Formats: sequence, C-alpha cells, structure tokens
Amino acid sequence: MNHVLESQQFTVTMLLLLFKKADEFRKLVEKKRFKKLSRTLDGLQLISLFYEASTRTRMSFEMAARYLGMQITTTESAGIFSSAAKGETLWDTIRVLSSYHPSAIVLRHNETGACEIAARAAQNNVAIINAGDGKGQHPTQAALDVYTIFREFGRLENLTILLGGDLLNGRTGRSLCYLLSKFKGVQFIFLAPPSLQMKPDIRQHLDKRRVPWKLATNMRDVLPEADVIYWTRVQHERLSQADKRRFNGKSPYRITRQMLQYVKSSAIIMHPLPRVDEINIDVDKDPRARYFEQASNGLFIRMAILWYVLGRKELKRK
Ligand code: NCD
Repeated sequence: MNHVLESQQFTVTMLLLLFKKADEFRKLVEKKRFKKLSRTLDGLQLISLFYEASTRTRMSFEMAARYLGMQITTTESAGIFSSAAKGETLWDTIRVLSSYHPSAIVLRHNETGACEIAARAAQNNVAIINAGDGKGQHPTQAALDVYTIFREFGRLENLTILLGGDLLNGRTGRSLCYLLSKFKGVQFIFLAPPSLQMKPDIRQHLDKRRVPWKLATNMRDVLPEADVIYWTRVQHERLSQADKRRFNGKSPYRITRQMLQYVKSSAIIMHPLPRVDEINIDVDKDPRARYFEQASNGLFIRMAILWYVLGRKELKRK
C-alpha cells in the first residue's frame, strides 16, 4: 500500500496489524517514551494540505507524524491560502509539492475523487493519504472507527450497526460500510430522512457482498437492534437548496437521555465528531457513549497508518 485512498484497501490482516501497532504506540505515548517513538520515522517529511475545515483529522495526523519523528509542513484553508485561490489545479499543486520529496501528503479536499487525482499527479513515490474527499470517503476515519469497535467488542464480526443522520453527504458512514462489509455477520440499518439516505453505490456494494441492510425512518423502532450506534451530523454545507430549507440548520434525529432507554446496555454510541445538535451533551456521561475515546483512538491509528505506509517502505529501502 503506497497511497491510502479508500477504506476497501485495508485488508483484515492489515487491520489487525494496525490495531496491534496502534496499541503499542498508545503505550509508548502514555509512558512518554517520546525519544524511542521519534526514531520510527525520523527525518521523514510530511505535507498536510487541507482544503476543508478540520480539527481532529489534521491535528491527530500532524501530532502522529511528530511523535514518530517526522517533520511537517502544513497549510490549512488551502483553498484560500494556497495557489488554488489563484486558479491552480490540484494536479499542478500536487505535482509541485511532490517534487519537494515529502514522504507523504495528507490531503483533505472538498471534491469527491480529489485524492485519486492527487495520487496520479504525485511523483517520487510520494504517498497520498485521503483525509476526506467531498462526499466520497474518509478511510483513516473508518480505520479508527473499526479500531474503536474492536477494542470494545474484541471482534468485528456479528454486529448490527445502526448508521444515523446524513448518510447521503457524510463520507464517514460510507467508508465504514465499505470496511465493515469485509466481516461476517455484520448487518446495517440506515436511519435517515429519505432525501439524506445512503446512496445506491453503497447498497449495491453490500448486496454484492451479501451483507444485509435495511432502511429506517423511525429512530425508536431501530435503536434496540443496534450493537453499534454510529451517529452523524447533517452536513449543512453540502446540502441541496431544498434540503437546506427542509432541515433549516437542525438535525432530524437526536439522541437524548430519554432515547437511551431504547439502547441495549451492551451497545456503544459513536460519532466521528464534530457533534452539533444530534447528540445531547447529557448523553456524554452515559457509559455507552464512546465518541471521545473514538476521537482519541484517531491519534494512535494514524500513527500506525503512517508507520505502515512509510516505515515499512523505509525498511525495504535499507
Ligand atoms: C468528519 C468529516 O470530516 O468527514 N469529521 C472528521 O473527520 N472526524 C465528519 C463531519 O464533518 O461531519
């Protein structure tokens, strides 16, 4: 694996290795063994290029890289602060940045498919890592999501996943479906208003892999079935004009303390964050809430991904 473009690229063996490595990195970070950690990818260069807003993905990638000894050159709001503002294409930008010999470029872009273009434009064996492309995918988020589920249940098989919120425009749910469809006994419930439902490409992919799924619109009906409740915000910035009017800045489905009575005691509640109004803050203290742990897991899984993509390549070169 050179580029990380879509979650389907992670094989089951690779995931287990990433989980193990993430656990190792977690221990070293917790014990503050920073010297030891920094030898992992010492001296390698990372460019982080973000055309869309980000808190967790950018910070955790950059901190992951620093812990592992990499040096980072970054631009946030690249749409405004890079030459894209002057009309430069992504192709040209990547072509030039990759000629500065970074080991990887972590890229978030507002256009679906942007990372594939970047991967074709990249020179010098530079790895492109997709940190979210429009309504497309967010593979490293899916990796941290399954890591969170695995830490909780000790398995990824035989689980019912309830995905709720804006499934049309959100990329995290899409990447999670692609990834979890590799595991036996997984089934999905898609809870969304009709205009925000999961797109046919994912449904067809699940059909092809014989993964059961169903659509739902009533939250109370389906909450009791779920082992994993994966909530997402309405992507107001990506809505059609009609949906903007329809949802008017609000979420159609909200998890409240009152709703928790319908949730299995063994279930977990996840959310890629940022949360807006779709999970009440008083749910945070419920023992089933896992979204903050999930976000924290992002650091360790991204360390593991950088190690996997760059460290193993370095080893081969030596
Ligand atoms: C998500 C994203 O950017 O797709 N955020 C994240 O990376 N954790 C989810 C979102 O923006 O709603």
